Amino acid sequence: MSDKSSNQMWGGRFAAGPDAIMEAINASIGFDKRMAAQDIAGSRAHAAMLAAQDIVTPSDAEAMREGLLTVLSEIETGEFAFSTALEDIHMNVEARLKEVIGDPAGRLHTGRSRNDQVATDFRLWVRDQLDAAASGLTALIGALVAQADAGADWVMPGFTHLQTAQPVTWGHHMMAYVEMFARDLSRVQDARRRMNESPLGAAALAGTSFPIDRDMTAQALGFDRPMANSLDAVSDRDFALEFLSVASISAMHLSRMAEELVIWSSAQFRFVTLSDRFSTGSSIMPQKKNPDAAELIRAKIGRIFGANVALMMVMKGLPLAYSKDMQEDKEQVFDAADNWMLALAAMEGMVKDMSANRANLEAAASAGFSTATDLADWLVRTLDLPFRDAHHVTGSLVAMAERKGCDLPDLSLEDMQSVHAEITSDVFEVLGVHNSVASRTSYGGTAPVRVREQVARWKEILE
Ligand code: ARG
Repeated sequence: MSDKSSNQMWGGRFAAGPDAIMEAINASIGFDKRMAAQDIAGSRAHAAMLAAQDIVTPSDAEAMREGLLTVLSEIETGEFAFSTALEDIHMNVEARLKEVIGDPAGRLHTGRSRNDQVATDFRLWVRDQLDAAASGLTALIGALVAQADAGADWVMPGFTHLQTAQPVTWGHHMMAYVEMFARDLSRVQDARRRMNESPLGAAALAGTSFPIDRDMTAQALGFDRPMANSLDAVSDRDFALEFLSVASISAMHLSRMAEELVIWSSAQFRFVTLSDRFSTGSSIMPQKKNPDAAELIRAKIGRIFGANVALMMVMKGLPLAYSKDMQEDKEQVFDAADNWMLALAAMEGMVKDMSANRANLEAAASAGFSTATDLADWLVRTLDLPFRDAHHVTGSLVAMAERKGCDLPDLSLEDMQSVHAEITSDVFEVLGVHNSVASRTSYGGTAPVRVREQVARWKEILE
């Protein structure tokens, strides 16, 4: 305190303040101010506990409580002057508290350290983001279920290798994404359950000799329990890595769906029309309507998975307990969280607004010999051919249709019988795409009856 240029929080043993470059590399206030509300919540819980345990007087604790609320409102209204010299959000808040309430502010840091403080703030912040992701995923699932409900029996081509494979239903395709985003949601819920423990009271690394009550602060902050090991509490960031892993997998799902929307909205496919609200025009080509939101969602996985890799690299090889390396955790998580939430909201908006072009889907479903498997299955069922032979006969019929420039249902019975004499006119029933999808009634299959069951199940879950 005697030397004005040394840090007012830890400058006791320092004769001089830091070099400007030192300050620039050291300070985190530029980004960790996003945790101001969490920092103040943690301090309020700590102050109340200190009073309950007779570590500070009730009047000091009351001064801290009121002062912290004042600081919070200054931050919320934008009046607060953040200082780089004060390094981070923890010291910015405490220094301002000192200006507002005077001496009692100096007692707030009893029995805690910035190490357990930052671990607590960051857990609270990540927990909020997990909750936001759960809402975003639920809303997206709702939008997909609505699409599936509307088009449970619309036929479209199902692809493997992006080559026409077998007809499927629009509803079935939408519900495939519902399953993926539902697993993302369950990963979010798992991660939240696992991370919801309080580091507060671990102090610098070894715990404290003050008679603190860690259960009380844990409860006040909505944690399930205090963390059981103080070294672990201040030194692990696995909860942030789990957040980034869950976000990465979800961003991968979003990216795949976005890619399909890009393909489907092209003039070559015309499977869907995206709304004007989620498209942009070209500055030079007047005819264009670009799926920019889908393209950006497709790309977001890059920075989100990048954050996951970056933080994993920061954490690998760090000895216990706290090291300053760990300050590099926040920007990665902040950026990934912002972009995941944005991608979820944009995808929900696009799915809600888009319209499937039913006629184009059906025309595409019929092209490309998509019912060849149905023909082979018919030969097995009706003529008792081994599947390999049925596959061969069907292959010959596909080749014949290709030569004639027609589709399988357009071949005559004589054409069919020239390849296999026992084929009867009944075969034509299985060559239509509607019969094809209606026949795939196995559990999890594409038949409209099965899709409607899944839609009903999800509507119930969402209610
Ligand atoms: N700004 C620091 C961080 O984000 C807070 C903890 C600092 N602790 C310390 N011992 N220097 O990690």
